[in-house]
Amino acid sequence: KGRVPALHEAFAETFPIGAAVNPATLEAAGPLIARHYNSLTAENHMKPEEIQPEEGVFTFEKADVIVGFAKKHGMRMRGHTLVWHNQTPDWVFEGKDGGPASRELLLSRMKSHIDAVVGRYRGSIYCWDVVNEAIHDKDADILLRRSRWLELVGEDYIQKAYEYAHQADPDALLFYNDYHEAVPEKREKMYTLVKNLLDRGTPIHGIGMQGHYNIYEPSIEEMRITIERFASLGLQLQITELDLPMFRNDDKRRDVTEPTEEMVEQQRVRYGEIFDLYREYKDVITGVTFWGAADDYTWLDHFPGKERRTWPMLFNDSHEPKPCFWAVVK
Ligand code: XIL
Repeated sequence: KGRVPALHEAFAETFPIGAAVNPATLEAAGPLIARHYNSLTAENHMKPEEIQPEEGVFTFEKADVIVGFAKKHGMRMRGHTLVWHNQTPDWVFEGKDGGPASRELLLSRMKSHIDAVVGRYRGSIYCWDVVNEAIHDKDADILLRRSRWLELVGEDYIQKAYEYAHQADPDALLFYNDYHEAVPEKREKMYTLVKNLLDRGTPIHGIGMQGHYNIYEPSIEEMRITIERFASLGLQLQITELDLPMFRNDDKRRDVTEPTEEMVEQQRVRYGEIFDLYREYKDVITGVTFWGAADDYTWLDHFPGKERRTWPMLFNDSHEPKPCFWAVVK
């Protein structure tokens, strides 16, 4: 083994390697993050509720800390996210008369939010997850999530978001980002949504595959089909929120206090296979970001109703490389 290579250096010829962070993780894991990752995403602090908690009141301090860290260490910065159904304050959807906002009002709020945020970080943020998770999960015949954006604006809210973002920063790469991308029905809906946008001439440049998997699922074959399918649209692809917790989705155990040897080995093999796949597609994959930096802090351990340790990252609680790290860097 010997010296621990920097994770991003192992991918110098392929794609940047990112981590989702917040000011607290930068405090707790600054040296690890600066050494191993060369791209950052704000885990929470660029979301609407953080950036514009009240109409016209913009709070950029924490986002600025993250952007400052990226600059200081020569890292790229992804923007996450502008238009979403979650972590968006209620005022956005409220009309002046107490009822719901009109289409016009909601679109003008969308535009001023995007102008302010994308405009502020022009030149610092090279790509944006413009619209996040806009697809309806069940019912094959329903494409779009029944969100307040859809209800109050109509289905062109998505296209409008890309147009506003493009106006605010014509150089930024604009992504559509979603989860369960390797599940066949969801994959086809994502394909359809993005194809429709392209057919209408929408400025969209990439698809973000969140990559919230686990050490068993989905299969490498489904991941491959997903990459091929999305790449056929001629867009670049990024894995934006990768994590491989040690439990299947339906595993409800709460009493596992230490990963078993079998889990550690399964995670090693899976991470290795996944990065082999990504290397094969390095011509279309332009970034791989983990949704965290090390096992000591991950959103999955605090998932509402499922609080437990999940150990999804390449580095352990002490920020040392795990067996899966060595499988990835080879
Ligand atoms: C998550 C954060 O990690 C949590 O800290 C927060 O409480 C909820 O949001 N998909 C996304 C991310 O696009 O923004 C989510 O981040 C995880 C799922």
